[in-house]
Amino acid sequence: MRDLVGGTALIVGGSSGIGRAVAGLFAARGARLILGARDPARLAAAAAGLCGSTRCLRFDMRNPAQTRAALAGLPEAGLDWLVITAAEVAHGPFATMPVDAARALFDSKFWAAYALCRDALPHLRDGGAIVLVSGVLSRRPGVNCAALGAACAAIEGLTRGLALELGPRLRVNCVAPGMVRTPLHDHHPPERRDAMFAATGASLPAGRVGRAGEVAQAVVMAATNGYMTGQVLDVDGGHTIRQFATG
Ligand SMILES: NC(=O)c1ccc[n+]([C@@H]2O[C@H](COP(=O)([O-])OP(=O)(O)OC[C@H]3O[C@@H](n4cnc5c(N)ncnc54)[C@H](OP(=O)(O)O)[C@@H]3O)[C@@H](O)[C@H]2O)c1
Repeated sequence: MRDLVGGTALIVGGSSGIGRAVAGLFAARGARLILGARDPARLAAAAAGLCGSTRCLRFDMRNPAQTRAALAGLPEAGLDWLVITAAEVAHGPFATMPVDAARALFDSKFWAAYALCRDALPHLRDGGAIVLVSGVLSRRPGVNCAALGAACAAIEGLTRGLALELGPRLRVNCVAPGMVRTPLHDHHPPERRDAMFAATGASLPAGRVGRAGEVAQAVVMAATNGYMTGQVLDVDGGHTIRQFATG
């Protein structure tokens, strides 16, 4: 189904994980792609798997000057869709995680996305859409995840505020993934990571953790459904309704 031919998507975070899967789905439907991230090698590898016209923008979205310089190369009103999956996240006990580490988490997960949405406004054409990514922790907290849950909740609040303020010119939605098997978790030793996936998966109604492509399907739906705005789509294997007590 090549129903997105003629449209252009900027996917910030498109070199890995969920963003890379989003790029693949947009490409399969005929959209032109622009991938944003910091590491040029990972950007090039992601672009190589897509159509030849895929552009790569190398920037750190926490740095406003870099972001604006990258966007300056794009034509005005040249984007149909802005998808922001990029973020670096951190965990730690509330009592001992330094406040500066929590601030850095918010800089990456929330403030960088906030500023990027603002800077991208002139580049989004009328009728376009923004999709942000939060996480299940916004409403189902995890131990050692207070700051990350708060940042995810902030992204969901931003989604609703932007949808109200930017409509009807633009639609704004959010996807909230549960645990998904992506390179985000590769900082763990493989055995520990796989044990975490197995334990989390066993606790979920779906019986397993998610795949990047499953979250990407929701992102592309939110980007392209013209009557949907201000919403948070949970793609979490049932994490928000799971229970531990049985019998
Ligand atoms: N995977 C999960 O289990 C899970 C669960 C809930 C929510 N989420 C959320 O889903 C989103 C995507 O996660 P993922 O698993 O796809 O992560 P991932 O595989 O680590 O990919 C992150 C992407 O963002 C880019 N990026 C990170 N910081 C950036 C920055 N400052 N400027 C520009 N690009 C940056 C990375 O490339 P460079 O490093 O080269 O810049 C990479 O392309 C994140 O917001 C995450 O919090 C993930």
